[in-house]
Amino acid sequence: MTNLRNTPLRSLAANSPSRRANWKALGLSAEDMLKPKIAVINSSSELAICYAHLDGIAKIVKEEIRRAGGIPFEVRTAAPSDFITGANKGGSYILAGRDIIANDIEVQVEAALLDGMICLTSCDKTPPGHLMAAARLNIPTILVIGGYQQAGEIDGQPVDVEDVWSGQIGERFGAQPKFPVAEMAENAIMGPGVCAGMATANTMHCVVEALGMALPGHAPVRGNSPKMQANAREAARRIVAMVAEDLKPRSILTEGAFRNAVATVLAVSGSINAIKHLQATAVEAEMDLDIFALWEEMSDVPVLAAVRPTGAVRIEQFEDAGGARAVLKRLLPRISGDALTCSGKTLAENLADYEIEGPEVIHPMDNPIGKGPAIAILTGTLASSAVVRLGIRDGSRPEEFSGPARVFESTVDCMQAIEDRVVQPGDVVIARNQGLKGGPAMGGSASVILFALDAAGLAKTTAFVTDGQLSGLCLKGLTVAEVSPEAATGGPIGKVRNGDLVRISVAGRSIDIDVSAAELAAREGPGYCTPATGYLANFREVVRPLETGGVLLPLKD
Ligand code: FES
Repeated sequence: MTNLRNTPLRSLAANSPSRRANWKALGLSAEDMLKPKIAVINSSSELAICYAHLDGIAKIVKEEIRRAGGIPFEVRTAAPSDFITGANKGGSYILAGRDIIANDIEVQVEAALLDGMICLTSCDKTPPGHLMAAARLNIPTILVIGGYQQAGEIDGQPVDVEDVWSGQIGERFGAQPKFPVAEMAENAIMGPGVCAGMATANTMHCVVEALGMALPGHAPVRGNSPKMQANAREAARRIVAMVAEDLKPRSILTEGAFRNAVATVLAVSGSINAIKHLQATAVEAEMDLDIFALWEEMSDVPVLAAVRPTGAVRIEQFEDAGGARAVLKRLLPRISGDALTCSGKTLAENLADYEIEGPEVIHPMDNPIGKGPAIAILTGTLASSAVVRLGIRDGSRPEEFSGPARVFESTVDCMQAIEDRVVQPGDVVIARNQGLKGGPAMGGSASVILFALDAAGLAKTTAFVTDGQLSGLCLKGLTVAEVSPEAATGGPIGKVRNGDLVRISVAGRSIDIDVSAAELAAREGPGYCTPATGYLANFREVVRPLETGGVLLPLKD
């Protein structure tokens, strides 16, 4: 048990008789009141397989916290998840849910003056929501990686939810799925956890470990496996010790830690969504850190592991090969080994005695799978920043493109034009009004357009440009997403007209439109936003631009 005798506990700071009366009524003894009170952040939900196992994990965590000398309090938060709670409003509630999670944590953990928190982090928006809350509250925090779902098989071939999703879109455009879609849907998800593959959730799980906010060797892990349960116990013991050591997130979330996270995303060819989530975390930590600039600084980092959708490696093979810890070991000469982690040691100390289990899966820096960067930031007359995911740069996808714009104000219109063969090879397809304000919350399902272009055989003969976001599963053709400023705030993407020549160059890191600045300025934007009510209308009012990661906080001058 951790020695907590000299630990200053903030939960005791406001311990009035009335507060103690309430603690007592909740079952705390006089001795318990002197123990650190730890929030167990749980987004368990019956509406998503990503969270379906977390009640059991929370139980394990609470047992272990008590054993280590702390008092756990389970705190429930919102539970956004793509396929069920993302069904309405073009998926707008998903990204908007990230900030609800951070705020949920603030209004419960901060309000109660708890001493630390352990966050069960799972579907896409929970890792950034937890990181943002940790950075904001700056109380001892550790994240437990919630694990990936076991994918299924048909005739000995792997089938996962990506196959179902791409299959259902492809069928509309005449593409033949590898198995009947209904059969794949029956077999794609065989257990709890996040989508298999290096999509946003598994990318963010690796990011969490690279930042030092999860213990080494925890990402990725199969959901609810004995290893995940052991990880949860280890993290539960560690959070009690972190309270005793007063080890806070802002000592861990340093520039070096963010550099390590950026390098990890590049090395695993992860989801582009990591960029805005890392930027939002840095803003919440009140750091003056430009993640977009850091991305360019680290752009020499090559691809070291090719997990689906980048390559054929399955997520369980990546886990068996050593996962994020092995990637960090490979990257160590290029990253910040002196970054402190939640283990209480530096990254380099954590890795000192570690041997990579699967060197054939996680390649060395001097013999990578592909040259870097797997994700690049573009700028130019069409965007002050935009993101392109390149994956393995083997020449199979174009990296230079120029063509006439074909502009769509909605996903529905764009899908119809693809189906009607209005979209032609050589076009630059522009889907706008899908940004933080226009979507709002990047709703609008830009990813669906990309899968439709692919199914229609147009992914490699067109380019796709959007101010919306893309699923972490999207890696097709030349796709430029998260164009900022977005159309709804007067960005150039809102002023492009059909036929304008658009030029994209990955080598030049540029995206330009052949229209003079004077003419662009004189043009009217679309003046269109998807209608929004309720929380989404509130989100639209207060959300900050992508340069902040899309936080809802007022910014300091
Ligand atoms: Fe939760 Fe894909 S829906 S990770």
